[in-house]
Amino acid sequence: MSLTDSLNWRYATTKFDSSKSISDQDIVKLKEIVKLSPSSWGFQFYKIFVITDPKLKQQLSPAAYSQDQIVDCSHLFIFCSYNNVREEDIDQMIAQFHNTRSNDDSYNKESIDKYGDGAKKSILKMEPNRQAEWLKKQCYIALGQLMVGCADMRIDSCPMEGFKSDEVDLILDLKAQNLTSVVLLPVGYRTSNDKYQYKTKVRKSDELLFEEQ
Ligand SMILES: Cc1cc2nc3c(=O)[nH]c(=O)nc-3n(C[C@H](O)[C@H](O)[C@H](O)COP(=O)(O)O)c2cc1C
Repeated sequence: MSLTDSLNWRYATTKFDSSKSISDQDIVKLKEIVKLSPSSWGFQFYKIFVITDPKLKQQLSPAAYSQDQIVDCSHLFIFCSYNNVREEDIDQMIAQFHNTRSNDDSYNKESIDKYGDGAKKSILKMEPNRQAEWLKKQCYIALGQLMVGCADMRIDSCPMEGFKSDEVDLILDLKAQNLTSVVLLPVGYRTSNDKYQYKTKVRKSDELLFEEQ
């Protein structure tokens, strides 16, 4: 199957079969797909909660306007961005750059340290609202990659912004971890009575969507 076949197969699933669970092996693959997502500066200033506990799903459901996917999915991915970036967050990632690349032939300590200094100058001086927005955008890149990965593995998903972030933050005690919930991705397996899977996709024409110059 080609990637476009997979993307035509996928749709925003509204009814998951709650009796079907994604295997642990496939969850490991999905986590790897998220992990390999690119991020600005390569800093991954986000954390992803993977919820399977039925009680916690029930608790989260009202915060997502009781949309069925929250409770019925196999695993609920909650993408959370950092609330703000602290100097120590950058230091931690720079230390990881050193650890990971110290055996590379091209390893150059000074150039990594310089990269960290440049990052600090750029990120720490951002106006707070702009920084928060920038941090949230990173989550969407990982979200998109995970959705494509799911489709490739014939796992259903539904991107969801229809939820109250402040309520989810309270339930997961995110503020204390310098995190805020940004977007949800319930994943699992569709039921045959989810009418949306049978609808033809509505997309703009190439002429409207693209402009070649
Ligand atoms: C960022 C984002 C947020 C969305 N939020 C919701 C949501 O809260 N609930 C829902 O049922 N669908 C949600 N959707 C699904 C869209 O309605 C759906 O992707 C769109 O209609 C295109 O249909 P398709 O994904 O089936 O091709 C969301 C999609 C995106 C990308």
